[in-house]
Amino acid sequence: MKPKITVVGAGNVGATAALYLAQQGLGDIVLFDIVEGVPQGKALDILEAASPLGVDIAIRGTNDFAEAEGSDIVLVTAGMPRKPGMDRLDLLKMNADICGGIAEKIKVHAPNSIVIVVSNPIDIMVYHTWKITGFPSERVIGQAGVLDSSRFVAFVAMELGCAATDVQAMVLGGHGDTMVPLPRYTTVSGVPVTQLIQADRIQAISDRTRNGGAEIVNLLKTGSAYYAPAASTVKMAASILKDTHHLLPCSALLSGQYGLSGVYVGVPCRLGRKGLEKIVEIELTPEETKALHDSAAVYQATLKDIGY
Ligand code: 2OP
Repeated sequence: MKPKITVVGAGNVGATAALYLAQQGLGDIVLFDIVEGVPQGKALDILEAASPLGVDIAIRGTNDFAEAEGSDIVLVTAGMPRKPGMDRLDLLKMNADICGGIAEKIKVHAPNSIVIVVSNPIDIMVYHTWKITGFPSERVIGQAGVLDSSRFVAFVAMELGCAATDVQAMVLGGHGDTMVPLPRYTTVSGVPVTQLIQADRIQAISDRTRNGGAEIVNLLKTGSAYYAPAASTVKMAASILKDTHHLLPCSALLSGQYGLSGVYVGVPCRLGRKGLEKIVEIELTPEETKALHDSAAVYQATLKDIGY
C-alpha cells in the first residue's frame, strides 16, 4: 500500500509541496484547507497535470480533516505568511491558534503520523504541535534548516559559479535572524568552502542566508517564499517515507544534546521511516556553540508568550 500524506494548508507552500510530492510519487495525497473549493481546485489541477508530467498522481482536496485518517505523514503549512517589515515572530499569536487547532485534529485523526511543521515561527509552532498532539518528539519535527541550508548552497554556488548540486551545507539554530550557518561544514565536492571563498565573502553569504526569507518577502511584497520551503519540506518527507536516513538539519526537541533541553531548534538529524532517528552531535567551536545557545534562548523565551 502506498503511504498516505496529508498536506495541511492549500496556500502557496502547501500546494507547491503537494505538487512536488505528486511529481516524486511519494504517496497518496490529501490536501486539506478550511477555505471551501481551494484544496479541491488545486488538487484537481495537480491531478490534471499527471499526463504532461508523465506520472501517476493520487491526490484529493478536502475541507474535512477526517480524510486525513490513517496518514503516515502530515505536513503542516497552514498559517499566515509574513509581509514586508514583519519578523517571523510577528506571526506568533495568530499562527499558534491555527496550528493548535490543527494539532488537535491530527491527534484525533492521524494519531500514528509523523508531523513536519512548516508554519512560522517554525521552532515555536513545532513545539506547540508536539505539546498538543502528545506524540513522541521523534514524530514531530520542524522544517527550517533544510531551507536555510539550501539558501546557503545557492549563494555559495552563485559566488563560485559552480553547480549547486556539488555544494553541501549545514545551517543550524532557529529559523530566524539568529540562525547559525556553519561555513566550516560547507563543502564543494568535498573541498571546504573556507579554502575557496575569502572570509569576508563567506560572512556576506552567511548574512544573506540569515536574511534569505526577508529578501524574498521584500521582492514579492504580498507574501513569503514557497518553492524552496516546499522543496525542503518534501526532501524531509522523502527521507522519512523512503527510509533513506538522510542527515538533515531539522528543528528537533533537544534533551541535553548540545547542552540544551526543552526547546526545539535546528540541529543535524537523521530521518527515516520512524521519523527522527537520531540527533547527531557534531563538533562545534565555542563561538558556534554560543551562537546555537543564543538562538535557542530566543525561542525558549518566546515559548512563554504562548503560555509555556
Ligand atoms: C522563509 O524563510 C517562509 O520562513 C519561510 O522563506
